[in-house]
Amino acid sequence: MKNSSLTIFWLCFIAYSCDTPQKNFNKVINSKNSPTTYIEDHHSYAQPNIAVIKKMDLDINLDFTQKKIIGKVSYDIRASASAKEIILDSKFLDIEKVEADGRPTTFSLGAFDEQLGQPLTIAIPTGTKKISVFYSTTEKTEALQWLSPQQTADKEQPFLFTQGQAILTRTWIPIQDSPQIRISYHAKVQVPSDLMAVMSAENPQKKNKEGIYNFKMRQAIPPYLIALAAGDIAYKAVSPRTGVYAEPSMLDKAYNEFSDMEKMVVAAEGLYGDYDWDQFDVIVLPPSFPFGGMENPRLTFATPTVIAGDKSLTSLIAHELAHSWSGNLVTNASWNDFWLNEGFTVYFEMRIMEEVYGKERADMLAMISRQDLEEEIKGMHDHPEDTHLKLNLKGRNPDDGMNSIAYDKGYLFLRTLEEKVGREKLDAFLKQYFSTHAFSTIYTEKFLAYLNENLLEKHNITFNAEDWIYGAGIPDNQAIIRSDKFQKVETTLSSFIKNKDIDKKITEAWTTQEWVHFVRNFPQNMSVEHFAVLDRKYDLSHSTNSYIAMVWYEQSILQNYHDNGVDEAIESFLTTVGRRWYVSTLFRAFAKSNRLNEAKDIYKKSRANYHSVTVNTVDQILGV
Ligand code: BES
Ligand code: ZN
Repeated sequence: MKNSSLTIFWLCFIAYSCDTPQKNFNKVINSKNSPTTYIEDHHSYAQPNIAVIKKMDLDINLDFTQKKIIGKVSYDIRASASAKEIILDSKFLDIEKVEADGRPTTFSLGAFDEQLGQPLTIAIPTGTKKISVFYSTTEKTEALQWLSPQQTADKEQPFLFTQGQAILTRTWIPIQDSPQIRISYHAKVQVPSDLMAVMSAENPQKKNKEGIYNFKMRQAIPPYLIALAAGDIAYKAVSPRTGVYAEPSMLDKAYNEFSDMEKMVVAAEGLYGDYDWDQFDVIVLPPSFPFGGMENPRLTFATPTVIAGDKSLTSLIAHELAHSWSGNLVTNASWNDFWLNEGFTVYFEMRIMEEVYGKERADMLAMISRQDLEEEIKGMHDHPEDTHLKLNLKGRNPDDGMNSIAYDKGYLFLRTLEEKVGREKLDAFLKQYFSTHAFSTIYTEKFLAYLNENLLEKHNITFNAEDWIYGAGIPDNQAIIRSDKFQKVETTLSSFIKNKDIDKKITEAWTTQEWVHFVRNFPQNMSVEHFAVLDRKYDLSHSTNSYIAMVWYEQSILQNYHDNGVDEAIESFLTTVGRRWYVSTLFRAFAKSNRLNEAKDIYKKSRANYHSVTVNTVDQILGV
């Protein structure tokens, strides 16, 4: 074989083996088209075009008394011939010393930026293959939440979890913290011997006596998906490749709630191709977890508020599972392209829900998404540029882009595209999109070019994708979303408003989504007696369904309803649950109805229980 054909042989061989996921845990999976040039990322100091990290080795100790992670991180690096230094992101870390290929090297920490932290610049002698950073976290670390036993379900052992997205991984590991970087990793984590540690990696299913856990993550992932949790947790398998982790008292509840996990994976694979991550587990965290769910690869992190007892909130699991394709496999290259992660994921989530639970359920979810979008756009009338799918978050916190635009306008874009080109063509296109860009990144312009070439031009279809992506609000050609069930709910609501009474027979078979739709659509001046009638019949003030409770509390706050112990229930909800969406909705309702003092009193008690991302949001709402 000539040299060039040899090269082609090897390239094809590598491409082929990367394309075909095998259960070979020693093989590292990286992209067949892993980028050689990186786009500008306003949220990272790294200069990967000069020197980039490739593989991580993490060796850390979790000190629960000092609330500190102490240890060492090493990276295999790839540097251009002229590179003299490599730059990592770091924020609120103590850096003790740095080595290049095992020998001490010099480093410096640059000026501190409120959002980005500090660049950690490390001198690398020519030919350096590996760098190591010895470091510890500090009490300011934003990714970590250290919980006392009192803040857990079982109240016996402490708990720790991390939240990396969007730019918080740098607060617990010095790293090139841009979503276009991809690394595989190994980790060794030492915890107190009563606890078990799990990561976004191959995980243990039992505790060991030593409290030392070794992890391998062979699939290359962006830094925001590196995740760790440690606590008194146990595992229960749902199927050979799916299962749940939770504190002992929560384990069976979690298992029952999520018993459709395998069905969801099967449905997802049927839609858009093989699940490439071997295992799909969910860990139920303590209630202060700031999100509904977080799609950490192989191990989704979830709020306990999703456990309703009737599987009615499990679209969240479908959502995080969908990220295994949109987000984790094909990753937004910068936070300006966040809609490519979330909008695609909501679309995929709805398709999984339709497959597993039927069209009626999916229609209701789509209607809720549509209403969320409308409200979000209303609230942005002074900043129409924030309603574009493609954002410009330079100088801002990427969190500012975490709103209904990326999720629900992104969804509506794909739903409208589906209507235009037909399901069959869209599905074929999406399947090809995921496999072409697997283990790689995507940004808006690259997506648009790919869309034009592989869907629109191919089938001779005209579609105003640019209006959707670069324009404000919702374009005129939006798909019309309808739900028969919700229409009936609206009729029931009108007659309830008129008659101040409601027939229990009508509501008997209502699902969570119907209740949410009913409550969310109360007219603005509904009387307190109306609230009281509902509370007498259904005791909504003490609903054990977190979503129904949350929208009921929101309305009660906005419309000054105080009976049936609702105020105490709201306070107790806000002091135990730290899910940002819930908490911020309620504090915003207080602010809107000029009840800031009450809100601040509650916040004084609850703030210490919240993770930093929830604290940041609520601080802003209440102006504290
Ligand atoms: N990846 C997000 C959570 C996220 C986004 C964290 C941006 C930090 C920055 C996750 O997949 C998500 O969207 N969670 C939602 C639930 C979902 C069902 C819409 C949430 O937590 O509300
Ligand atoms: Zn998401």
